[in-house]
Amino acid sequence: MYYPDEVIEEVRSRNDIVDVISGYVKLQRKGSSYFGLCPFHNEKSPSFSVSPGKQMYYCFGCGAGGNVFTFLMEYENYSFQEAVKTLADRAGVALPEIEYSQEAKRARDEKNAVLEVNREAAKYYYYLLRTPEGAPGLEYLKKRGLTAETMQRFGLGYAGRYSDGLYRYLKKKGVSDELLKKSGLMQVNEKQGMYDKFWNRVMFPIMDLNGKVVGFGGRVMGDAKPKYLNSPETAVFDKSRNLYGLNFARSSRKKQLLLCEGYMDVISLHQAGFTNAVASLGTALTSQHASLLKRFTDEAVLTYDSDEAGIRAALRAIPLLKEAGVTAKVLHMEPYKDPDEFIKAQGAEAFQERIDQAENSFLFEISVLEKSFDMSDPEEKTKFFQAVARKISGFELEVERENYIEAITGKYQISFQGLRKMVMNWLMQGAPPVREAPKSGKRKEKEKEDGILKSQRLILTWLAEHPGLYPSVRQYIHPEDFSQELYQKAAKLLFDQLEKGEVNPAQILSVFEDPEEQGQAAALFHADLAVETPKEWDKALRETLAKIMDYSIKKKTAQMDPADLQGLQQLVDAKRRLQQLGRLHISL
Ligand code: CTP
Ligand code: MN
Repeated sequence: MYYPDEVIEEVRSRNDIVDVISGYVKLQRKGSSYFGLCPFHNEKSPSFSVSPGKQMYYCFGCGAGGNVFTFLMEYENYSFQEAVKTLADRAGVALPEIEYSQEAKRARDEKNAVLEVNREAAKYYYYLLRTPEGAPGLEYLKKRGLTAETMQRFGLGYAGRYSDGLYRYLKKKGVSDELLKKSGLMQVNEKQGMYDKFWNRVMFPIMDLNGKVVGFGGRVMGDAKPKYLNSPETAVFDKSRNLYGLNFARSSRKKQLLLCEGYMDVISLHQAGFTNAVASLGTALTSQHASLLKRFTDEAVLTYDSDEAGIRAALRAIPLLKEAGVTAKVLHMEPYKDPDEFIKAQGAEAFQERIDQAENSFLFEISVLEKSFDMSDPEEKTKFFQAVARKISGFELEVERENYIEAITGKYQISFQGLRKMVMNWLMQGAPPVREAPKSGKRKEKEKEDGILKSQRLILTWLAEHPGLYPSVRQYIHPEDFSQELYQKAAKLLFDQLEKGEVNPAQILSVFEDPEEQGQAAALFHADLAVETPKEWDKALRETLAKIMDYSIKKKTAQMDPADLQGLQQLVDAKRRLQQLGRLHISL
């Protein structure tokens, strides 16, 4: 991790979780916690709780949970560092400077300088669009149906008719020629010297995840060629790692992201309410793009143009997305060319319907494949099914293969058994690995384990809420009695805090870097069991402790080395304590 633990803890403790989350979710006090509608799933009655005591949130509906850092990471899709930075700013905590090597420092300075020039350029273009000189640009964008608000949101601008407008502006600001060259905003030739790369175009600033301007796309206002000019790659601009619109789409709170081809598509989709649309920057989708998407979603809907090029782009994107763990679906745009056209002609509701009907990417691939076979010729048709069977044999799970066989038999004239045999033949020939789904016989074991885990969560929750239980609990269980690494780690930290008499569960979560683990750890402190009377309490506590001990003893017994005398003695002691447990009476 990049900041010291004390700094992270200071930032966390200076940002009260109720205050922070109140900025996003309407909360109401209920007992010792606050409740509201969960921002991470759709619900009508509030099951999202925020506990000022634990400084954690937890949704009893969907299981989302964590501390104040997790919340920003999940809600804003921030990285851990970004969450720390944002909250440090919010609370006025100064973060320590990170030590850079000489070379890293030079690179960072260059990046910052180019970003600063980009920001100035964006301001210049933005301003120009709104002056009389910018009238042709403004008129063009209005004609394309964009509102003033949309133009503002995307920072659209205009590069004027003179080829040195920006050059002169930036020179007046004192920017050196050397830096101008690095910014990619200028062109140099022997006769004219340095002059603007963009002129007489409407300008689309391209922003990175954090809204910083990393480059520009500029469009002619008519049919001249090239239609778009883009910034070259610079210290801050890498086309294969940026997606247009992702700075907004990252917090769109939608299940999927819409992946389209053009700037105008993204902008018109956002204007129509599809704030989850992004586009690559005039290049094909790369595997880096796919991993970037995976940070924010598990499903991408390809809303590429309906022409030949769009289909080819989709066929290339699907395996890359799949590789990164993103499920792809393909939206059918016909009879329209692209999302921009579709929205203009049919509106948002119709587009939403198309999203809902988007085709499974495998079936899309098959329907494209079909076009290369003459299905009226029996031999060709057989070849087609062979190709289909081969593709299906690539799926790991038998259920998956069967589902696809079924889908294909529903769509084409082939029997389930016939296609299944062909798939089996491909499988026999070796290639793809076959991994089966877990056998149902293991289910019972799993249920038992779930029960134990629940007991372990209950104990952690109770300890966090009633530290007074600790002296009794400590006599019976230890962190190593917990069954999974995450549980053990969290228990160890909580026990340490209890020893010192400083319970602070939210601090424990910061130890886990991955928001998913933070969420799982938050769940450890939010187990729920209806116990009310002292007698019920007493019984629940004893039973819960007994379950955890019993499980731990059995596990240790199974793993015991008979020569380990000390271990054996410990086991005997543990069994004795378990028996004594029946006589334990604890009150809160
Ligand atoms: N593109 C490019 N250079 C070009 C043409 C296209 O960089 N000469 C990129 C741009 O990022 C553009 C995307 O490819 O947004 C898609 O191209 P296209 O569909 O032609 O443009 P649209 O965004 O649909 O723009 P418009 O609706 O204004 O035609
Ligand atoms: Mn278009």
